[in-house]
Amino acid sequence: MSDQRETPEDAKSQGPNPSAIVRLSTAYWESQTLLTANRLRLFDFLADSDRSADEVAAGLKLDPRSTALFLRACVGLGVLAQTAGRFQNTPVASVFLVSRSPAFMGKVIHYSDQLYTSWGRLEDALRSGQPALPAQSYLGDDAERTRGFVMAMHDRALGIARALVPLLDLSGRRKMLDVGGGPGTYSVLLTERFPGLQAEVLELPGVAAVARELVAAAGASDRVSLRDGDYHNADFGSGKDVVLMSGMFHRESEQACRGLIERAAACLDTGGLLVVSDVFTDPGGTHPPFAAMFGLNMMLTAADGGVHADADVQRWMAEAGFGELRTAALPPPMPHRVVMGRKL
Ligand SMILES: C[S@@+](CC[C@H](N)C(=O)[O-])C[C@H]1O[C@@H](n2cnc3c(N)ncnc32)[C@H](O)[C@@H]1O
Repeated sequence: MSDQRETPEDAKSQGPNPSAIVRLSTAYWESQTLLTANRLRLFDFLADSDRSADEVAAGLKLDPRSTALFLRACVGLGVLAQTAGRFQNTPVASVFLVSRSPAFMGKVIHYSDQLYTSWGRLEDALRSGQPALPAQSYLGDDAERTRGFVMAMHDRALGIARALVPLLDLSGRRKMLDVGGGPGTYSVLLTERFPGLQAEVLELPGVAAVARELVAAAGASDRVSLRDGDYHNADFGSGKDVVLMSGMFHRESEQACRGLIERAAACLDTGGLLVVSDVFTDPGGTHPPFAAMFGLNMMLTAADGGVHADADVQRWMAEAGFGELRTAALPPPMPHRVVMGRKL
């Protein structure tokens, strides 16, 4: 992701230079430009033909002068191109920012858009130790927001799955528990790839309701079931041969993660596989820079949110009775790492 960018530390090695500081202090201009373009569905409007700034302004009901400035800024960001005063999507925008494209990222970007105001409250969160956005709002309490969150997770998982699913050899395995499985996307794709595998997704009721629709729409209801429950106290059952914990350690404290690993061990048969996928840092918690920033994002949006180091997760798994431990990194731009181990 952003590992290549210059940091103030790099600048120091060439002598003091404020470029990185200037860059960091204005980086939100660029984020807000992309978020707004996505919200306005600008890329859909330009999907079939190039347009002048006045045409865009008229079509999207915007002010013409402001729109011209906005479109030129989008050209600078590389998401639009300008030829003879007319604007068009660049190839990257056509693939990832137009809603009819199978690789559309707009719902995930919309979720980032919703978090923009929470980031504006970073100082409050640092003082209070409380998230700026209560997690319940997008995990059930606010139905529309919850649906948006689940749909964003679904689209994101479809992209990540292209790298994650081939990493996992689940041949011959029969019963998978997908803890905090969100939209159930990985369960649907893994049970499709490994015939005979049945998955149970354990989820909070508001999220599970939307996930049920997605699983049914994928025609996978006969092999993926949804169970309403809180993974902190729900019964994990027994006789499982795979437990998937994807994207939920970043919501939980070390103590809670250790408890989840121990309960995974208890429900798995000997030889059963535990897969923990998430954004993780190197030991020390500062790198990759995206992962450290992700920790802040989670701090702002979940009571115990943060980021862990995959080396710590491996150690917790070893202490809970897992062996053959290994971590695989998904290819960039995916920041995820996948920790795997077998119950001894
Ligand atoms: C970032 S999402 C990951 C979803 C999915 N596993 C994936 O990787 O796409 C975290 C999920 O954990 C679920 N979750 C959070 N707290 C939970 C709890 N106490 N019990 C059950 N699920 C929970 C959320 O509803 C959300 O779907």
